[in-house]
Amino acid sequence: MYRIQASDLAEIVLKKKLFVAPVILAGAAWLLAATPFARYLPGDPAIPARVPAVFPAGWRFPAGRQATFARHAIVASNNQLAAEVGVQVMKQGGNAVDGAVATGFALAVAYPEAGNLGGGGYMVIRMADGRTDAIDYRETAPLAATRDMYVGANGKLNGESLIGPKASGVPGSVAGMVEAQRKYGALPLAKVMAPAIRLAAEGFVVDSAFFSSLSQGRHRIDGFPGKTVFFPNGAPPAIGSRLVQPQLAATLKSIAASGSRAFYHGAIADSIVAEMQRSGGLITKQDLTRYQPVWRQPIRSTYRGYTLLSMPPSSSGGATITEMMNILEAYGQAAPFGSAERIHALASASQRAFIDRNSKLGDPAFVKVPLGTLTSKAYAKAIAKTISRDHADATTRLASGLREGNETTHYSVVDGLGNAVATTTTLNDLYGSGVYVAGAGFFLNDEMDDFTSQPGTPNMYGLIQGAANAIAPGKRMLSAMSPTIVLDPRGNLLLVTGARGGPRIISATSQIILNVIDHRMSLADAMSAPRIHHQSLPDSIRVETGGVDRSVIARLTAMGHQVYELSGIASAASIMRVKGGYEGMDDPRSRGGGAVGY
Ligand code: DON
Repeated sequence: MYRIQASDLAEIVLKKKLFVAPVILAGAAWLLAATPFARYLPGDPAIPARVPAVFPAGWRFPAGRQATFARHAIVASNNQLAAEVGVQVMKQGGNAVDGAVATGFALAVAYPEAGNLGGGGYMVIRMADGRTDAIDYRETAPLAATRDMYVGANGKLNGESLIGPKASGVPGSVAGMVEAQRKYGALPLAKVMAPAIRLAAEGFVVDSAFFSSLSQGRHRIDGFPGKTVFFPNGAPPAIGSRLVQPQLAATLKSIAASGSRAFYHGAIADSIVAEMQRSGGLITKQDLTRYQPVWRQPIRSTYRGYTLLSMPPSSSGGATITEMMNILEAYGQAAPFGSAERIHALASASQRAFIDRNSKLGDPAFVKVPLGTLTSKAYAKAIAKTISRDHADATTRLASGLREGNETTHYSVVDGLGNAVATTTTLNDLYGSGVYVAGAGFFLNDEMDDFTSQPGTPNMYGLIQGAANAIAPGKRMLSAMSPTIVLDPRGNLLLVTGARGGPRIISATSQIILNVIDHRMSLADAMSAPRIHHQSLPDSIRVETGGVDRSVIARLTAMGHQVYELSGIASAASIMRVKGGYEGMDDPRSRGGGAVGY
């Protein structure tokens, strides 16, 4: 844990030509070290001093917490073991990409509700020398997929996009992680994967978070071969016992030895296809052998002088965050945190950005995405003009053609050189489709539900999407995953962030960034602050229970907003550069995660 040094304080005092007795200095240093603001003294003029946050009286997370500090390198993740693995690999000479990939493989072992080999994800990279990159390893629709495959004879959705073998897209995670590591990693793949292999072969201790996650996912897992692994005696392994996954260890070993060929061409591919044939799924050997991750340039945008590097389509995350933040910038100065004016501005900007997201975005290999327009300042300026200061607009009035009708994990990594990686990966729902590849030891995703299964009908997250995101063979389904890196006005790394939570990812990620830039919160306050969400349809603001004052809800209602409470909005894992190093934090809404560094 970092403590401000008396010498740091002396420097500040001397600069201001103040001379005080050393005993007062020591006392002041002690006092400052005891507050979360000690690390935010203006040592760097590009990062203004933090301002203590004030949250509503009924809010469950206190302001003023301290995040984890590390001088050199840090990983923040929803899973503590995986974060430890990332740090271990960086201590062995790995860089942030090695650390991220090591964390990713460890998540597939120790956090199978979302960490995966059978899903997909996105990674945004910024190397300390200024290079930026992004890799899209989103799943693709199998070649046998058809536009209306989830619409039953009665014209209604048949539920097969949600659970079971037809819900799975072709997995991208292994190809994406191996490729990112090949291009940017400093260590051999086998060394990066060794800790995950060990976790699978030697096991890890089941904690209460994992136990309750399995209990929650039981209805999904029970119908498929994972049942014997995760419910060995009809119940999850006892808290404190060791879960060993030998099949998964063998799978990881063969990936470590032969790269992604092992997964897409070899025995693992055969196991996936056998599972599909056994249970009636669509993924074939041809689907697997033709899968390719795609390198893309991050969307580079600005917000009040800060730079955002975010994920372009096939994720909607970067485009939607950029559009929303551009609208907010054009709308004017930020009103105080938690005020009706601020929530109205956030919700109205989000509503408008989501209208574009839901109607215009899709896989750029299949549809023409007007990315230049959607992310331009001029477009945002015109949209900001449509937001009234004192009343809400109905989504149906703003968008013609849209009719009204959860599990992922994010991790952030920074290494000792300042290289930074933001990664979000998912199986979609908790334990994906529930289908577990017998013999190979992992779950397959239910990502097909992120497509527009039927125009006008909401998906699992209540999203009503358009034809741009219709199902087509080989196409990537639109995502909301938003791994994002923020640079300060001098171009130095400031924040690495992202979240889980379906479309609410976009709200959580952007609000953490806004809390840091507009409300000058510390990282811990920015992460703990209550969040709001507006995804255009349903046409309402979702707020976290206790997170908005009653009087503010009354004002929003008087403006014409419908306001509903939700228990939690997404779960993030973030890193922020501070004086002398980095702070990292897993979301207080999540269980079992943490930030680890040295
Ligand atoms: O890609 C997406 O947008 C969704 N499949 C993400 C799902 C998710 O975040 C669920 N987590 N709680």
